[in-house]
Amino acid sequence: MAKEIKCVGILTSGGDAPGMNAAIRAVTRAGIYHGLKIKAIYRGYKGLITGEIKEFKTEDVSNIIQRGGTILKTSRCPEFRTPEGRALAFETMQKEEIDALVVIGGDGSITGAYNLAKEFDIPCIALPGTIDNDLYGTDTTIGYDTALNTIMECIDKIRDTASSHERLFIVEVMGRDAGFLALNGTIATGAEACVLPEIDPEFEKITQFISNGLRRTKSSSIVLFAEGREKDYNIMEVAENMRQKFPELDVRVSILGYLQRGGSPTASDRILASRLGVAAIESLLEGQRNIMVGLRNNEIVYIPFTKAIKDDKPLDKDVVRAQEIMAS
Ligand code: ADP
Ligand code: F6P
Repeated sequence: MAKEIKCVGILTSGGDAPGMNAAIRAVTRAGIYHGLKIKAIYRGYKGLITGEIKEFKTEDVSNIIQRGGTILKTSRCPEFRTPEGRALAFETMQKEEIDALVVIGGDGSITGAYNLAKEFDIPCIALPGTIDNDLYGTDTTIGYDTALNTIMECIDKIRDTASSHERLFIVEVMGRDAGFLALNGTIATGAEACVLPEIDPEFEKITQFISNGLRRTKSSSIVLFAEGREKDYNIMEVAENMRQKFPELDVRVSILGYLQRGGSPTASDRILASRLGVAAIESLLEGQRNIMVGLRNNEIVYIPFTKAIKDDKPLDKDVVRAQEIMAS
């Protein structure tokens, strides 16, 4: 018979994302509501190995829903990738009497939870926390909406300069392996084109998009370039290529960088994180294990770890088509 869950550990891991604090708050409050003890683990898997742990009460999560980043801190922990590291983490869990774990993070963090769960038979629940939106099975991830809005605000500002100076801007946005931020950022800002990791960049096609855009606006052009495409093309080389193709345009590069990861979460991210946090606790109490809690068509769904981390999340074809039509 499965062991009764009395104490749940919570940690944030991998890249921080706006809304992680709202998720920590929801897991803590829902846990306490259901009579559980909540133990907060600092610095992701690193803190699980070293035992940086504190019991959380309701007041420990007051006044954090509006804050970006994560009050629990986060880290990349190479040691947890090894069986020895995970054995140390398990020892800490036994010592602290933590019966189950809620992990908030991206695909790497969920892979870590999956390995721990397999090796030590520990109930683990993951919440998708990443600005990249690259987790299969959920329509959106905690932090994605905020990052997309940040990108939109930045590009609206860049547009002012682009059109005043009649420049072509190539703007790099985050997305390690996925183009959701770049694609939807392009639609939301009316940018002329995007270069995505999922779609062959085909240089000629990109320049075609741009020349179409130029014919219409005759003043400026903005191309969003997903960071994940850097594997194939260096953004500076892309800019040089564009300079040669459009000698009449002044070409500039802008890399948005880490500002995309920060800031106060949008209402959507706060609500998403709160709903998923409550569902994490309730699914554990219902006996669910080793699943990521997500949202599909506005309903809570449970995705086995194996699917969430192994299956690639495809870009929505309708969205790609809409972007192409807008840019034609
Ligand atoms: P994200 O969760 O944002 O994708 P990472 O890929 O850096 O970020 O993963 C975060 C952490 O998850 C890693 O530093 C490591 O501790 C853990 N992790 C990632 N992959 C594995 C793995 N295959 N096995 C065990 N732990 C892993
Ligand atoms: O996974 C989220 C993300 O923002 C990616 O888009 C980016 O590649 C990565 O994190 C960068 O993270 P860091 O520099 O913190 O390792």
